[in-house]
Amino acid sequence: MGSVSNSLVLSPATQEDIPAIVDVWFDAFTQPVIGKLFPDTPGMRQWFRDCHTLDMQTKPLQKYVRVVDEDAKDAQGRPRLVAFGKWDLSTPEERGRRFPLWHIDSPFQDCENLIKGLDGERKRVMGDQKHYYLDTVGTHPNYQRRGAGSMIVKWGCDLADHDGVAAYVDASKEGAPLYKRFGFEDFSKPDEEIASMARAQRA
Ligand SMILES: CC(C)(COP(=O)(O)OP(=O)(O)OC[C@H]1O[C@@H](n2cnc3c(N)ncnc32)[C@H](O)[C@@H]1OP(=O)(O)O)[C@@H](O)C(=O)NCCC(=O)NCCS
Repeated sequence: MGSVSNSLVLSPATQEDIPAIVDVWFDAFTQPVIGKLFPDTPGMRQWFRDCHTLDMQTKPLQKYVRVVDEDAKDAQGRPRLVAFGKWDLSTPEERGRRFPLWHIDSPFQDCENLIKGLDGERKRVMGDQKHYYLDTVGTHPNYQRRGAGSMIVKWGCDLADHDGVAAYVDASKEGAPLYKRFGFEDFSKPDEEIASMARAQRA
C-alpha cells in the first residue's frame, strides 16, 4: 500500500474547475470502449468543456463536487484538482437529454445507443422511485486508492439520506466495489458490461 495522505479536501466545483475536470476525466476513463466513443482529440475536449459549462450554468440540480490535494499546486498555483463527481438530483424527464448532440469525433449512433441503454436500465431498476443519480466519478490515476472516490460517493449518499431518497449509478468494473461499500446493490441483467446499481432509501 502506498503512503496515505490526508490532504484531500472535497468542495463544490465551479466553472473555473472545468478544464481540470476534463483533464481528469481523460486521464481516468481509459477503458477502450470509452476511448472509441469519446476519443481524446482537441475538439472532443472542448465539447466536454462546453457540456459542463452548459450544465453548470443551466441545470442547478446537477451538482458538481471536486476533490483537491491541498499539498499539490496546479499550473495556476491553486490546489490541484485530483477527482471530481457529478450527482444529478433530477429525474431523466426533468433533465432532458443527458448530453447535447454528439461531437463530430464521436460515433453518433453508438453514443445514442449507449445513453438510451443506460437510461432504459435506470428506468427498469428505479421505476418512478425518487432517487439521486451518480452521473460521473473519476479520480486521476496518481491519486486512486486514496479515498477521493469514496468522498464523492459519500457526499451524494449523505444528501440522499438527508432527503430520504434512493440513489442509482451505472457502474464500471472499477467503480462497483466502491459503490458496494456504500450500500449499492447490483441489479444488472446477466452478462452486462455496465452494472446497474441501486442504493435503497434510508429511513
Ligand atoms: C472508480 C474510481 C472513481 C475510484 O476512485 P478512488 O479515488 O480510487 O476511490 P477510493 O480511493 O475511495 O476507493 C478505491 C479503492 O481504494 C481503497 N482505498 C480507499 N482509501 C484508501 C486508503 N486510504 N489507502 C489505501 N486504499 C484505500 C478502497 O478500499 C478501494 O479499494 P477496492 O476498490 O479494492 O475496494 C477510480 O478508480 C476511477 O476514476 N476509475 C476510472 C473511471 C471510472 O471507472 N469511474 C467510475 C465510473 S462508474
